[in-house]
Amino acid sequence: MSRFLSKVIFRSESRRFLSSLTTFDVKPEQKTRELIDKIIRVDQAGELAADRIYAGQMAVLGHTDVGPTIQHMWDEEKAHLAKFNELIPKYKARPSALLPIANLAGYALGAGTALLGKEAAMACTVAVEAVIGEHYNNQLRDLMEHADQTKDKDLIETIRKFRDDESQHHDTGLANNAEQAPFYRNLTSVIKLGCRLGIYLTERI
Ligand SMILES: [Fe+2]
Ligand SMILES: [Fe+2]
Repeated sequence: MSRFLSKVIFRSESRRFLSSLTTFDVKPEQKTRELIDKIIRVDQAGELAADRIYAGQMAVLGHTDVGPTIQHMWDEEKAHLAKFNELIPKYKARPSALLPIANLAGYALGAGTALLGKEAAMACTVAVEAVIGEHYNNQLRDLMEHADQTKDKDLIETIRKFRDDESQHHDTGLANNAEQAPFYRNLTSVIKLGCRLGIYLTERI
């Protein structure tokens, strides 16, 4: 009987030991760290793509009457990108491996829509900025819940400010006849889908 009992105890102890080796208790600080890492990685990639979209639009439409409007939005995107380039080392976040793709895809999207006309370029802006604004709002909600409101204040304020800038870019697109673009609905749906896919991938890769 005692042999039977010691066998049972040994088995349950060894099972517990084995499970302690294979299960990981993720601490809340670790989760927050992973959240911030993901946020900075995807935002740097997103702002790089935005910078390239406006560069592509300027290459095609820079000399037209919407040139100064696009230049103004581009300048703000350059500042957004510079800020995330600064936050990557500050938080020791891992940059996305997809940055070269974000660079090329952004430029191709900006130049490609601009070649369809001013209205299509503005429709591209409306679609991209709608998704980015929504994305920044989701991040703000997560940060309000999990981040340290004092230590991570700079990051939270940065995202809040950029969310407001993106919302203005969105409205600028609408004010510049985005809705008159050919196939406006289909064009914006496809671009939004692409942006959401880009967000999904650069959060992870
Ligand atoms: Fe931006
Ligand atoms: Fe923007």
